[in-house]
Amino acid sequence: MPEAVSSAIAAMEGHGFYNRNSSMQAAGNATALALWEKAAQSVDLGKETLVIVDYGSSQGLNSMEPISTAIRVLRVRTGDERMVEVIHTDLPSNDFASLFTTLNEDPGSYMVGTSGIFPSAIGRTYFEPLMPPGRVHLGWNSWTIQWMSRNPVDAPDHVFAVRSRVPEIRAAVIEQQARDWRHFLELRSRELRPGGRLLSLFPARQPDRMGFEWLMGELWEAVCDMRRDGLFSDHEILRITVPTAPRRMADIQAPFSEDGHFAGLEIEHAEILEGPDVHWGDFERTGDAANLALCWTGMMRAFSGPTIMNSIDPVRNRAELVDDLFGRFANRLAANPQRHEHFIAVVLLHKVGSAV
Ligand SMILES: C[S@@+](CC[C@H](N)C(=O)[O-])C[C@H]1O[C@@H](n2cnc3c(N)ncnc32)[C@H](O)[C@@H]1O
Repeated sequence: MPEAVSSAIAAMEGHGFYNRNSSMQAAGNATALALWEKAAQSVDLGKETLVIVDYGSSQGLNSMEPISTAIRVLRVRTGDERMVEVIHTDLPSNDFASLFTTLNEDPGSYMVGTSGIFPSAIGRTYFEPLMPPGRVHLGWNSWTIQWMSRNPVDAPDHVFAVRSRVPEIRAAVIEQQARDWRHFLELRSRELRPGGRLLSLFPARQPDRMGFEWLMGELWEAVCDMRRDGLFSDHEILRITVPTAPRRMADIQAPFSEDGHFAGLEIEHAEILEGPDVHWGDFERTGDAANLALCWTGMMRAFSGPTIMNSIDPVRNRAELVDDLFGRFANRLAANPQRHEHFIAVVLLHKVGSAV
């Protein structure tokens, strides 16, 4: 089995690109807001400063609504005077400048019209402890845990190893994902206060359908086009492996015992939903395949572009090659417009015990 040679996972495309190209993720987050409100209503509160952590914030735009919602619901319970700390975390390579600009300038920022809210950020992987034990009332975690802590394997036959035809390659992904999920839950459980809640939303798959077939399939075909044109070597094709994968319900539930407990956490809610297709309505109305292609190219490039760039030999003109790749990808999408089918898991976890 080909061993992974590339392990540096890059954050999202910078300079606010992710903020401008993540309406799919925003629409997915909206499906979890009612559950998140319920979490804010039921979390145990004493007289302390409230602590909300946004694990994997990226450039922050998609965090504004969930964090505003949490502050609003918590302050109905405590009064508007209660201080709230909001901590956004992401990888050190994240574009934190865009996050802080969004906080200060976006009309939807949770800072607008409020006082006594103290935002800050941590640039460190969440596969390490990020907060002192027992500090966090509410944890928000959206669209991040599909990223593995490391790339366990390079796939010679796909950009996404979970789609490889080689069973051992797919098994390496499943194993890494299982290890990461357990580790993430153990760490977050330590950080939560007893009675705290963690909401995690991430790409999922059904037993018979993985989702993302159209977009991931065309990205792989665009990579193959570049190999045919002599622009990527076989070695580069092997290295271009983006370590993300969806989880099945069985993967989500695996660490939990029959009564639903793991590491002091209890599953309060877990479901897999069909994700909204945010661009299809516009396409049906306008028939503008080029625009549809542009929208989905932006989304795919926002999350995978920097990791693909890191996989290309640094002596080559990486920026030009990545531009070429996503240009070909966009042409392919425009020539073959489809509805984007995808699934999302929404999981609400409760730290067992009472802090008050
Ligand atoms: C697709 S973005 C999601 C951003 C935002 N939460 C949303 O809902 O749109 C995924 C984010 O997860 C971050 N991420 C991936 N692995 C991580 C890790 N090990 N530790 C912290 N953040 C990580 C990436 O850097 C990226 O910013």
